[in-house]
Amino acid sequence: MLLIVLCLGAISQSIDNDDFVVTHGPYLQNLSPSGVTIIWSTNKPAVPGVNLVTPDGNKSFIRNSHDGIIDGGGLIHKVRIDGLEPGNTYRYAINSVQILKYQAYRIYYGDTLARKAESFTTPSLKSEKVSFTVINDVHENSGKMANYLKNGNSVNHDLYFFNGDMVDWLQETAQLFRGFIDTAVTYFATSKPFYLVRGNHETRGFVARELKSYFDFKDDRFYYSFNNGPVHFLVLDCGEDKPDGNRYYYGLADFDSYRLEELEWLKKEVNSDAYRNAKHRIVIVHMPIIKEEKQGHGLRFLADNFGPVLQSAGIDLMISAHTHRNTFYEAGKSGFGYPVLVNSNNSFVEVEADLKVIKAVVKDAAGKLIAEYIIK
Ligand SMILES: [Fe+2]
Repeated sequence: MLLIVLCLGAISQSIDNDDFVVTHGPYLQNLSPSGVTIIWSTNKPAVPGVNLVTPDGNKSFIRNSHDGIIDGGGLIHKVRIDGLEPGNTYRYAINSVQILKYQAYRIYYGDTLARKAESFTTPSLKSEKVSFTVINDVHENSGKMANYLKNGNSVNHDLYFFNGDMVDWLQETAQLFRGFIDTAVTYFATSKPFYLVRGNHETRGFVARELKSYFDFKDDRFYYSFNNGPVHFLVLDCGEDKPDGNRYYYGLADFDSYRLEELEWLKKEVNSDAYRNAKHRIVIVHMPIIKEEKQGHGLRFLADNFGPVLQSAGIDLMISAHTHRNTFYEAGKSGFGYPVLVNSNNSFVEVEADLKVIKAVVKDAAGKLIAEYIIK
């Protein structure tokens, strides 16, 4: 009798009885007037797809492929949808087909998970305003961010920036999800895009090497630009704060040459038609690019190299983070002739820009006003 019980125990242990589920997401990335990327994860390997419904009711099922092979087989799923029209609202539902066995001549599928429909709206090319929220230095304390969001703050905003140091370091993927992505999904990220701006802490730890796997960055870089309404956004990657030779990097940091590559891109970018023709130009960067007497290596490198380029390009506003203190440098005080709003780790920035002004307010987690700035 004992033998039978032991055998049954062995059998039940060999059967995978865990349900096939969506573990994180979906969340929107890289939303443009003509496309969007939808990301989610499952607890078992799957083939991802998205059911899309256009405003006039046309339905399609979208899967991506690379080099002739349909995407799938992993746990993180990214589906890019292109060919959309600007200023339209689309409904979408993620679809995951579990893969039980994946051999050369035999593939077994398991359950199909069809999630409820969500929606997103592509930016209009003619919009005369844009609103956005900036959150930074959360350092995996997602509860603080949830407090701010659950109070209904920034609920109708068009987009969100996570301006760096959202995690302490990246030793495991779970830090990204419990640190901020899951909270973003709960409050807005199924229907509004967020932009993760790399801070110095996102460069640390083994999983930092795989950061791009969990997001979709425009042009597959951590620095890029895009238009929304009257604003041309410039997202910059500040790199690490200490010299590449610092002992805590153990010989694996190469940020000075990386930043010089970024600088070459920036010099071209500020001469582009999109930059020159925009009503406002706003730079989002984790470490503030300002001139100060005492600066660590990273801050000084940015000030020496990027500051003069941004000064002569005439940016209207820089929004930064990193110092964990609220500071506003008026145009004449940053050292480069542009205003810099540095947001602390306990506050949140809400910005509304129209054809005339950029209005930025800083609030605490309860939504109480800390400061207000109007940039003309
Ligand atoms: Fe930082």
